[in-house]
Amino acid sequence: MDLYIDTANIDEIREASEWGIISGVTTNPSLLAKEGQKIEDVIDEIVTLVDGPISVEVVATEAEEMVREAREVAQIADDIAVKIPMTTEGLTAVSRLREDDIACNVTLVFSANQALMAARAGAAFVSPFVGRLDDIGTDGIGLVRDVVDIFAYYDIDTRIISASLRHPRHVHESAMMGAHIATVPFGVLQKMASHPLTDSGLQKFLDDWKSMEEDL
Ligand code: E4P
Repeated sequence: MDLYIDTANIDEIREASEWGIISGVTTNPSLLAKEGQKIEDVIDEIVTLVDGPISVEVVATEAEEMVREAREVAQIADDIAVKIPMTTEGLTAVSRLREDDIACNVTLVFSANQALMAARAGAAFVSPFVGRLDDIGTDGIGLVRDVVDIFAYYDIDTRIISASLRHPRHVHESAMMGAHIATVPFGVLQKMASHPLTDSGLQKFLDDWKSMEEDL
């Protein structure tokens, strides 16, 4: 499973990309608004840091306008996946953008049927939102499992991005279910890399080494 970073914060993208683990970036209007910078400027910086698709979302809600906006967004850099919300207008936009060879990431996917429709419209990626389903007491990871099974059964090559991940267990379970990609907030990536036994084990190695040096 590939790991994308789910943020528009350049410092976070820079640090995680230095770890050598990031193969794409997802943003959304809320994440970009938090940074308070122009989209073009943020993307210009991201492309220097990450070699892989960068998802940027349209804010239009009507198909014609989504297509116009998507064409503009796709011009900003070579590897843009335009995020399109999972609505019927969105499906129309995706099927038109497929003819232009513009990769779309259908976002705000909360059911297997939505994922299937997005794939059939021609989405390159679909993003089931795990955490937001868990928030309302349903089974977010179960949705990832169902979409993986359905796409495998029908040989659908749309890539599944497990999104809205809130903690390391979500990432682990996404991998176990066979998601192609997990898009992970920076704080969760930090937690994934750490373990108290790694910290205590390292401290013990260093202490033992130091006491040996003192004895010599
Ligand atoms: C990913 O594409 C989404 O933008 C993101 O994962 C949403 O996460 P949230 O539910 O924590 O806002």
